[in-house]
Amino acid sequence: MYIEKVKKTMNLPEEVVIFDTTLRDGEQTPGVALTVDEKIRIAKKLDHLGVKTIEVGFPAASEGEKEAAREILSLSLDAQVCGLARTLKGDLDAAIDCEVDYIHTFIGTSPLHREFKLKMSKEDILSKAVDAVDYIKDHGIVAEFSAEDATRTEFDYLSEIYQAVDEAGVDFINVPDTVGVMIPGSMNWLVKELKKTIKSSISVHCHDDFGLAVANSLAAVEAGAEQVHATVNGLGERAGNASLEEVVMVLIARYDFPLDIKTQQLVNLSEFVSRITGIKMPPNKAIVGENAFAHESGIHVHGILENAETYEPISPEMVGHTRKIVLGKHTGANALRSKLDEYGIEMNEDQFCTVYDQIKTLGDKGKKVTDADLKAIAVTILGKAKEEIVKLEGIAVMTGENVMPTATVKLSIHDEIKSAAKTGVGPVDAAINAIQSLMSDTLDIELQEYHIDAITGGTNALAEVFVIMGDTDGNNATGRSTRDDVVMASVEAVLDSINKILIVR
Ligand code: KIV
Ligand code: ZN
Repeated sequence: MYIEKVKKTMNLPEEVVIFDTTLRDGEQTPGVALTVDEKIRIAKKLDHLGVKTIEVGFPAASEGEKEAAREILSLSLDAQVCGLARTLKGDLDAAIDCEVDYIHTFIGTSPLHREFKLKMSKEDILSKAVDAVDYIKDHGIVAEFSAEDATRTEFDYLSEIYQAVDEAGVDFINVPDTVGVMIPGSMNWLVKELKKTIKSSISVHCHDDFGLAVANSLAAVEAGAEQVHATVNGLGERAGNASLEEVVMVLIARYDFPLDIKTQQLVNLSEFVSRITGIKMPPNKAIVGENAFAHESGIHVHGILENAETYEPISPEMVGHTRKIVLGKHTGANALRSKLDEYGIEMNEDQFCTVYDQIKTLGDKGKKVTDADLKAIAVTILGKAKEEIVKLEGIAVMTGENVMPTATVKLSIHDEIKSAAKTGVGPVDAAINAIQSLMSDTLDIELQEYHIDAITGGTNALAEVFVIMGDTDGNNATGRSTRDDVVMASVEAVLDSINKILIVR
């Protein structure tokens, strides 16, 4: 709606293509090193996704990098296979020897790079850049030139060097925001100015040091840049590069670029790269994060159930994600009903209210209720004894090092309040001993089976306790409870079972 209003003021190109650098800049993520086999597997997925170019590595860096480039080239992918090279002949030859389709050559141009890294004059840097482009083009290979640290290079010099490589026949001039210092307005200005003199296509390579890599890439596109460098999950040096999934989805869903990308594969690709690199995505990561299409608050879930567009800008299916209704302290009754329907769990209004209250109580304690938790709670409530002859009125347990675990239990039995304190090998045993002693006038019962399961991993997982109690007349019954406290779950399961036995006696 508002985008249409500003689109008229933009200088959008006819087409934008994606240059993926997950296997090169992405691999420069601290702690990440990919084997040849891993690079091949990721390259196949990127090709299947539909990126135009895959930068597979830096062939001059090692034998492994060369082997990866050769192996990926032997797959005859649809994507162009690119190798990175400094403007040095040795680097260029390493890439040429691998028979890459595309060479991305670079040299530092900013005062910092000239003075401290290269110790070279502006003129020498310029002639190195032109020679490298000439050399690549003489070999009939697609050439991209990057002025490393372009965004901290004096504009006149940057423009001069880009014009020189443009005249040498470079296919893409790339504008790297090497340390992520640009803001969208400055990136837009820079690309617009460069466009005035450059004939070749313009590409951008943005780093995320200030969290602006995607915004700066889009600002470049708004000024006419035809290619964006990106990495899966935004991997890359330091804070990373522009995230491929975000760039792709904004270009398609917000700018209406008909990118030839199979967006339904984005989540799968993100998870695959995350597994291989060991870099996990935060749950709130746009597009591919665990929570990107998760809804918890009652108001939102109500809206989503009526019409998903109320709280989703795109459908989860579009990126291969799934919508999740999360239960917790913000859950509304609608969300809970829809979850129970999803699992085919039917219950009456009282049972529903008990489940609802239990979820709210867990939520107030800061606990997220997973689907497995919900199923366990529902099963417990559905299987609960119909009448509560014995009720828990209070419990206190004491346990620790060098003390006998002791439980004091207060029960209402046929409306009469009784309490007892007993010891045991642990707090659960002590509590069950206290219950048995309190029940001894009414029922001679013993514990026949006891099982405990943590529903989900983690120390704050819900505990599901299942027991079978039996009396001396041969009556036995199951009891079940799901709680965030093991002692409470055990006591409730035992009382549930006792109530069932009392009902049938
Ligand atoms: O960030 C950067 O400047 C780079 C260059 C190699 C283009 O990755
Ligand atoms: Zn980079």
